[in-house]
Amino acid sequence: MKKIGLFYGSTTCYTEFAAEKICASINRMLGAQTVQLHNLAYDSVLLMTHYNHLIMGIPTWDYGELQEDWEVQWDALDTMNLKRKHVALFGLGDQIGYPEWFQDALGYLWHKVVSLGASAVGEWPNTGYDFIESKALKEDKNVFVGLALDEENQFEIIDDLIYRWSRQIITEFGLSP
Ligand SMILES: Cc1cc2nc3c(=O)[nH]c(=O)nc-3n(C[C@H](O)[C@H](O)[C@H](O)COP(=O)(O)O)c2cc1C
Repeated sequence: MKKIGLFYGSTTCYTEFAAEKICASINRMLGAQTVQLHNLAYDSVLLMTHYNHLIMGIPTWDYGELQEDWEVQWDALDTMNLKRKHVALFGLGDQIGYPEWFQDALGYLWHKVVSLGASAVGEWPNTGYDFIESKALKEDKNVFVGLALDEENQFEIIDDLIYRWSRQIITEFGLSP
């Protein structure tokens, strides 16, 4: 069975909850233990080399900054070759509290993994959100580079977004059952 590595950082647990939901959703579709969770507070980004398919979760903190566990390992990412890796990204942010920096860290992570050779999947439409600026938007396109989740303001739709995005990325990964 193909394994998917899901790497995330999370300061106040929202990204962790989303990671667990994505893990459960994909495991229901592809079989138990397909997704292996890695919390970057304890695990190294270097473990990414063990997987061909990767999911990465990052919240934005402190006005457009990386979450602390990602920040600590940010430079270690540069030592990795992500060519032939398929990567899907999701982010957590607060579009009402931080509308000018919504999901910026998701954008930084996307640029990083693409510059390291990864092939990125999992774009998500920006309709239904209300913010001013985001570095996670693709240039000239009405899409985010990955799934943008907002636990503070869109709690009630998160499970549905996660279910639909999980289905989308396993198709884009070429792993559909
Ligand atoms: C002090 C502080 C700064 C934040 N800065 C941003 C920000 O710049 N952009 C954004 O989209 N969200 C921002 N947020 C919202 C967090 O990204 C959001 O609460 C997220 O769910 C936290 O994820 P975590 O619990 O996994 O750490 C901020 C939250 C706090 C408390």
